[in-house]
Amino acid sequence: MNSRIKQKIKKGSRTVSSRRWLERQLNDPYVKAAKDHGFRSRAAYKLLEIDEKFKIFKNKTSVLDLGGAPGGWSQVAVKKNSKIKNHKVIAVDIQDMEPIYGVNFIKGNILDNDIVENIQVVLDGKVDIVLSDMAPSASGHRTTDQTRAILLAEMALNIAVYFLNDKGNFCCKLIRGKGEEELVKNMRKHFKIIKRFKPASSRKDSSEIFLIGLNFIHQDLA
Ligand SMILES: C[S@@+](CC[C@H](N)C(=O)[O-])C[C@H]1O[C@@H](n2cnc3c(N)ncnc32)[C@H](O)[C@@H]1O
Repeated sequence: MNSRIKQKIKKGSRTVSSRRWLERQLNDPYVKAAKDHGFRSRAAYKLLEIDEKFKIFKNKTSVLDLGGAPGGWSQVAVKKNSKIKNHKVIAVDIQDMEPIYGVNFIKGNILDNDIVENIQVVLDGKVDIVLSDMAPSASGHRTTDQTRAILLAEMALNIAVYFLNDKGNFCCKLIRGKGEEELVKNMRKHFKIIKRFKPASSRKDSSEIFLIGLNFIHQDLA
């Protein structure tokens, strides 16, 4: 570590864990790149990598970004489809999000009953891509966090099945472990192609991966 970075992490005023966090941030090339390129989060690079590999944005007009704050993925979505006529990006998060030009924001909890109705009002129809980078706030208890993360992924899939256009795409963060295979099995009913992917920008010590569902098969549920 260079001395400038070391100086920034002065001992004394910080706890060991906050010093470690800061040290990691200052040494992370994706944090630097995000700052240099005006992305609100390093997570933006995960979505860029996912799109590079699976072309999820190709010929798509509208995007629903679940767990969108602080806005890195929404920024990528705007960049990817801003040249397309009638493009639309809607972000949902339980936390506030600073406005992004081209993004409609809904503040709400994906687990609440009225969220589908709220999305429906803003979306006014179906959507081509559903993204979910949702993550529960960490409790420090691995099993609890994993169970909560699976629940969010399941909800994201339900929302995707409800709102996606035929041939639409889905991309969802998942914490590996119990419930993963069940979720993948469920996705197989709705998408022609399912992929699991860990981008290089996803931290090696994190058990997150992304599930990609391509080519949604619309079924008339009526
Ligand atoms: C990893 S961050 C998303 C980062 C974002 N993709 C970006 O690039 O800036 C996860 C987000 O999920 C949100 N979240 C967690 N639980 C949620 C819920 N039940 N409903 C809506 N959003 C939720 C959190 O508030 C948080 O902003």
